[in-house]
Amino acid sequence: MVKKYTWSDSVSTGHAATDLQHKQFFAVLYEFAEDLEKNNGAKKLQKLLLFLKYYGEWHFGSEENSIACFHCPLAGKNIEQHAQYMVTIDALLEKVRASGSSEELANSAYDSLTDWLVNHIMKIDKANAEYANSCKDA
Ligand SMILES: [Fe+2]
Ligand SMILES: [Fe+2]
Repeated sequence: MVKKYTWSDSVSTGHAATDLQHKQFFAVLYEFAEDLEKNNGAKKLQKLLLFLKYYGEWHFGSEENSIACFHCPLAGKNIEQHAQYMVTIDALLEKVRASGSSEELANSAYDSLTDWLVNHIMKIDKANAEYANSCKDA
């Protein structure tokens, strides 16, 4: 049984475009978890990683811009971790290209991606959003 994650209001940043983009990340990962349960992860891994590479390029710029004017204390960490995400996705893509895909690699990619969901989206993005929202309210 693969641990699955669904978007909920508790993950909301209060920024509509960011929330929509985060929902997309949750949905894609949920679908991949279902693929893993059917031992279909290896087949879907490369397509997922290619999507997540473009997703990162699109989402990070949009998210960074949406909070840039608030000077959140964790804004630098957010940008730093976004760069690390791109490195992780590229490394996984390189592994697929070099040695081919496998269920083992698909499961380990899923672990990295759920780690991102829990430790970046639910923590750093959330903290920055709370800071930015408190500035708006002040
Ligand atoms: Fe984000
Ligand atoms: Fe972020």
